[in-house]
Amino acid sequence: MCCNLSKYTLIFLFLALSGLYFLLRNIHTVENWNCHTISALYQLQSRIQSSFVPVNLPTFHHNRTFCSHLGQKPSPEDELEERYLLDSIAWPGPPPRSTPPALRQTSDPVHSLFAVLPTKGAREWHVGDQLEALVQMHDFQGRPKRYGGDFILARLHSPELGAGVAGKVLDHRNGFYSAMFPLLWVGSAQVEITLVHSSEAVAVLRRLREERPDRVFFKSLFRLGFLSETTVCNMCLPPDHQPLCNYTDLYTGEPWYCYKPKMLSCDTRINHAKGGYLKHLITNREALLFQSGVNIKVRIHASGPDRINVLPPRKEIDVESSSIKPEPLKLAPSGYYYEDSWRPLSGVALHQFNKSSDITQCLKNKVINMYGDSTVRQWFEYLIALVPGLKEFNLDSPKNVGPFMAVDSTHNILLKYRCHGPPIRFSTVMSTELRYISNELDGLSGGPNTVVVLSIWAHFSTFPVEVYIRRLRHIRRSLVRLLERAPATIVVIRSGNLQALDQEVSLYNSDWYSLQLDEVLRSMFKGLNILLVDAWQMSLAHHLPHALHPPPVIVKHMIDTLLSYICPEKKKSQLI
Ligand SMILES: *[C@@H]1O[C@H](CO)[C@@H](O)[C@H](O)[C@H]1NC(C)=O
Ligand SMILES: *[C@@H]1O[C@H](CO)[C@@H](O)[C@H](O)[C@H]1NC(C)=O
Ligand SMILES: *[C@@H]1O[C@H](CO)[C@@H](O)[C@H](O)[C@H]1NC(C)=O
Repeated sequence: MCCNLSKYTLIFLFLALSGLYFLLRNIHTVENWNCHTISALYQLQSRIQSSFVPVNLPTFHHNRTFCSHLGQKPSPEDELEERYLLDSIAWPGPPPRSTPPALRQTSDPVHSLFAVLPTKGAREWHVGDQLEALVQMHDFQGRPKRYGGDFILARLHSPELGAGVAGKVLDHRNGFYSAMFPLLWVGSAQVEITLVHSSEAVAVLRRLREERPDRVFFKSLFRLGFLSETTVCNMCLPPDHQPLCNYTDLYTGEPWYCYKPKMLSCDTRINHAKGGYLKHLITNREALLFQSGVNIKVRIHASGPDRINVLPPRKEIDVESSSIKPEPLKLAPSGYYYEDSWRPLSGVALHQFNKSSDITQCLKNKVINMYGDSTVRQWFEYLIALVPGLKEFNLDSPKNVGPFMAVDSTHNILLKYRCHGPPIRFSTVMSTELRYISNELDGLSGGPNTVVVLSIWAHFSTFPVEVYIRRLRHIRRSLVRLLERAPATIVVIRSGNLQALDQEVSLYNSDWYSLQLDEVLRSMFKGLNILLVDAWQMSLAHHLPHALHPPPVIVKHMIDTLLSYICPEKKKSQLI
């Protein structure tokens, strides 16, 4: 009985084990089958992704306002403002011609010259005077140019004194340009004139801006379960090509589109990223207009001396009798370097925050909200690197993309950074983190302990200016609302800056694009209780080479300006 039982037990056990064995085997097979399915799906997916190559992108040529008209129609007042702003940045072009110009007919910095003109008939200069340098452009054959439109930068500086100031360039539209400088320091001052782009090159850039806003393209990943697809996205896409996903922002009406994935629906969008840069945008002939060392950011030499000696201010009586003050005021720079420190001429009395404890003291009990591109992320990085008490809070955000946050709980400081909404050429931003600055501002209570810092310019250079105007208008509306409900809120805007240019960078990000956007930015925020940190002039007046992300020494001047505004010095004697 016992043996029988054990025999049955054994048989039962055997059956049970074999059942388990088959079950396990089956599970394994099912898994195997699953693996095959998955890998088939992955292959499909990678085929989809590999089909995502720039050469297959639709090329579309369209008229001027294609992109801007894809958004909401501006109101009549907005349209009027847009017209005014576009007129204010109108740039003279070369005369129309039947064939594109040959290189030899275009502006050549080597053949061009400038001369420092005498002031008030004498070669004697005093602090408070205005210096004028006259530039005459020539082509590669040495013939004088007869029309304007060249993009020229001017700087007056003194390496010995650690001094520098941006000049203002006036285009006489006949091949001559005046570079005007205020004289702000005693001692030597040297004029530096640089041709950034010939007028013929600017014409190419302008055409690209209007006709090829697709030259930087974006992509999004869509995913559901095992399926994933990547499609091209942009502010405007030719609608006839294939169905679109419409991601137009409900609050602002800012347009954004992706091609609809073949298998997935529009609400499966996971992220947003820079897709790439289209190539072969210009002809071989046009490419000659963009040669490093030949006609991109090349110095123009002086026909005579380029250096002057500036004497102390003329006698008071002279200053008072010379009632021709408006001219110098009109071209007043926002500041200048002296003894290697930035001296603002208006807006804020600057003092230097050399010690991290000074920065901590200034930011105590403050929430600093930074929004925008990588040029304001640089400020975030600068502050957390310099202030040991400010500990970055790990949000597990993608590198360089954010959002980022740093906290000093002892001093009650909260520092935050978030990138602006599309178009943004960051590596990969989660769709959930794609926020428009104006919507973020609408979510702020504001108040004397709230600081808002904005920088938005670098990612807009491939689009018609209307797109930038619309974006800034939305931001301005939100800022006005913020300052209405909490007038003590501190708002700071960082302007664009100059950057290193070669042929490739020029076609997507030229300083000419940045200059035009920068002028719009200044006009848009004029009259609001806002500080503009003039990164443009800080990079132009400085002796270090231009860089999209300026070197720390220049960032320090910007941060000092920011902190001086947040924490104005009480005693007047301490003002610089
Ligand atoms: C420009 O493009 C828009 C949109 O495609 C179209 O409605 C408009 O008629 C075009 N304008 C011109 C002048 O071609
Ligand atoms: C996208 O959506 C917005 C807002 O709903 C709408 O105004 C716009 O016309 C849509 N765009 C297209 C191309 O359908
Ligand atoms: C801050 O540092 C700079 C450069 O080292 C120096 O010239 C300046 O005097 C310092 N300012 C203060 C307030 O300590």
